[in-house]
Amino acid sequence: MTLEEVLYWLKNEDERSLDQLWDKADKVRHSRVGDDVHLRGLLEFSNHCSRDCHYCGLRAANNKLSRYRMPEEEIMSCVEEGVAYGYGTVVLQSGEDRGLDVDWMANLIRRIKRETPLAVTLSLGERSEKELSLWREAGADRYLLRFETSNPELYKSIHPSLTGQEPDRLELLRTIKRIGYETGSGIMVGIPGQTFDDLAKDIETFRDLDLDMIGVGPFIPHQETLLGRKAKTPGILPEEQVPNTELMTYKVMALARLVQPLANIPATSALATLNTPTGRELGLSRGANVVMPNLTPKKYRALYEIYPSKACIDETAADCRSCMHRRIRSIGRQVGEGRGDSPSYKKA
Ligand code: 5AD
Ligand code: FES
Repeated sequence: MTLEEVLYWLKNEDERSLDQLWDKADKVRHSRVGDDVHLRGLLEFSNHCSRDCHYCGLRAANNKLSRYRMPEEEIMSCVEEGVAYGYGTVVLQSGEDRGLDVDWMANLIRRIKRETPLAVTLSLGERSEKELSLWREAGADRYLLRFETSNPELYKSIHPSLTGQEPDRLELLRTIKRIGYETGSGIMVGIPGQTFDDLAKDIETFRDLDLDMIGVGPFIPHQETLLGRKAKTPGILPEEQVPNTELMTYKVMALARLVQPLANIPATSALATLNTPTGRELGLSRGANVVMPNLTPKKYRALYEIYPSKACIDETAADCRSCMHRRIRSIGRQVGEGRGDSPSYKKA
């Protein structure tokens, strides 16, 4: 698929012709990764963050948020709950938590690998090669790090550097791959200042990085962030601005499926936040093959407020499990068994 074709779909507003895009994405999904929907239990185990990303509610400067870091025993009981629910993977996610002890984390990974059959996915932000290698050796299978936007100026403008010399995320993703992780990345759709050309390049970047997992969600403004408070973005014409809509998110998910057919693609919580009744089902019918039911204890959920009104804030892990099962059955698909590794990773 050429950049022009990608742009054609991104700008297409005609429902009838968009049906063709949904149909193509669904057929490719069916033939390349099948009808199984894999469940990843998401455990948001720490909301501490040392960064100040202009879009994210966990940013260090948000002093309205009370911070938590779950102790090992509490994490393990959530992990065991995930095993009992038949999940094949636990995703350990946190802010970029500098208080997280690197060896403590390695021990936790070793313990999960020793005591359970789960695949372990880490989503801990930008980390040094040394840390990433240590956790990989401890047994972690996968790493998620969204590059958010492939436009370096836009990226820099919303993502202040801590030291002035971090590696860029694309470079870091290549390192993550080289270390041997099954590698996931993705973007937000409709970041203020993001153009259609940027978005088309993002989709091209999914293919260039040869990603095993691709997570795409709409940008949702958060009042305690700079981007959430800004009314307008200077710098681009209004007609160039990508809207942060549900429809645009489906287009990017469908195109991601077409450019990287073997990738695991989740129907994200941000999408379910825009459309709680049917967002996940529509995502699964337009390219996605993964969902991430939340395993985080209820008392912490409201504190992991990356963006406001996040889906599943008032639910328990058991609620999310039955909700996901029901949704998957309702569209004639089945829950995947086992770890659900990406066939693109297995092939490599
Ligand atoms: N709206 C939508 N998604 C967001 N994320 C962070 N802040 C927001 C927001 N305001 C996404 C980023 C990040 C992931 C963990 O959550 O893409 O990588
Ligand atoms: Fe959490 Fe539906 S997945 S309530």
